[in-house]
Amino acid sequence: MTARIALSPAFTVGRANPRLYGSFVEHLGRCVYTGVYEPDHPAADAEGLRTDVLDLVRELGVTTVRYPGGNFVSGYRWEDGTGPRDDRPRRLDPAWQSTESNRFGLAEYADFVRKVGAEPMLALNLGTRGVAEAMELLEYANHPGGTALSERRAAHGAKDPYGVRLWCLGNEMDGPWQTGHKTAAEYGRLAAETARAMRQLDPDPGLELVACGSSNQGMDTFAAWEATVLGECYDLVDHISLHAYYEEVDGDRDSFLASAADMDAFIRNVAATCDHVAAHRKSKKKLTLSFDKWNVWYQRRFHQDFARNPPNWSQAPRLLEDSYTVTDAVVVGSLLITLLRNADRVAMACQAQLVNAIAPIMTEPGGPAWRQTTFHPFAQASAYGRGTVLDVRPQSPAHGTERYGEVPLLHATAVLDEATSAVTVFAVNRSQHDELPLEIALHGMALTELTEHSVVSDPDPEARNTLSDPDRVTPHRATRATLDASGRVRTVLEPLSWNVIRLT
Ligand code: AHR
Repeated sequence: MTARIALSPAFTVGRANPRLYGSFVEHLGRCVYTGVYEPDHPAADAEGLRTDVLDLVRELGVTTVRYPGGNFVSGYRWEDGTGPRDDRPRRLDPAWQSTESNRFGLAEYADFVRKVGAEPMLALNLGTRGVAEAMELLEYANHPGGTALSERRAAHGAKDPYGVRLWCLGNEMDGPWQTGHKTAAEYGRLAAETARAMRQLDPDPGLELVACGSSNQGMDTFAAWEATVLGECYDLVDHISLHAYYEEVDGDRDSFLASAADMDAFIRNVAATCDHVAAHRKSKKKLTLSFDKWNVWYQRRFHQDFARNPPNWSQAPRLLEDSYTVTDAVVVGSLLITLLRNADRVAMACQAQLVNAIAPIMTEPGGPAWRQTTFHPFAQASAYGRGTVLDVRPQSPAHGTERYGEVPLLHATAVLDEATSAVTVFAVNRSQHDELPLEIALHGMALTELTEHSVVSDPDPEARNTLSDPDRVTPHRATRATLDASGRVRTVLEPLSWNVIRLT
């Protein structure tokens, strides 16, 4: 059976915010040390950043980078990462049972985001710290000069303020694993008071604050958490966070390939909860969503490994170094499609994380850097998924899954770039074994050329990119796509594939 979508400029979802292509750097394992920062590496620049990694991050098309955690931030003292490197303290990091050298901190992060052309997004420690320290960091980072902390920044070599506009009010504060974990009522009050103080200090309406939503949709407190927290801080924040990780469990690949069904429901449920709070408060303000941690993460395996082989306070241990298969890449593509399909409500998103720890980029200390399978759908979505998301109304054969019931085999969206009038269709075939014929009808669109149909797929669903075979899985060209004179594209999607079809 053929799957169908229709493209028309009259039916749109909304503008895709470039911030949907954000990422995340946490002091976790080797994300920072021997990941983005390795002063002794042959490719390191004068500031210690790996230029091979910088090149890959630029190619990935990352627009924002959340920092410095993650669970790490809830025990972090931001001042430790400032000033002369040799004077910085070594500390215990309770989140990952590692030793933190603090040789990478705010200045190094600011240098990194500037070099990759991304926007900074800082998370605050609302676990072991509170309002005062948030205000101090804001003054240090953003105040032009003439005060103790802004002058301290200048003395540390940064005369100009960093101008950070995006701030996360803590991290996963609903999770019992979080250092300084709080109840919804406790956190809601703290988020409100922190937000109020930050706005007093920096009244610029461009300051955007993200309240912590639930760590995932399965939390016992899910939705009640959001309602209580927003009951305290709705008028003071701009966004609420969502986090979700997916993995294949017990060989149930069909359910894994349908993970986007969970992400989609999560987005709708959080949006509904925000709207409920707004209705209750008789507020006209519409909160947007920050999906600021999402990815495939083999979390069950991580917990076993961590229990069996804890880091024992080592420095930059190998943690969460998942090696991604082509199947994982297809799921990542499908999650990106879901973010785009919800572009009217999801204002930003961060794939967690950027290098080595559940990351699209891998490195070896002193050695090469390479692209994981999951690098490719992200890079293509960021390159071509800019503009207006079209409401493509897919019609598709479906199949049953253990976890999500009936799901369509086709998962798709399309983005119109008004500047060039080009349209890009992103599509996933969730069938593990069968090809899926696809027809794309063009309505009111002067598209005359099929620029390319690019595919990520492999006969082996477990195929991956490794140190010894870094380019085993890369996008390849499909050869069966046609565009006829009546404005109809016909093509065939390979089993278990991520597809990018570009029309001009
Ligand atoms: O991204 C890895 C971890 O996942 C983060 O530190 C934590 O906050 C999240 O659950």
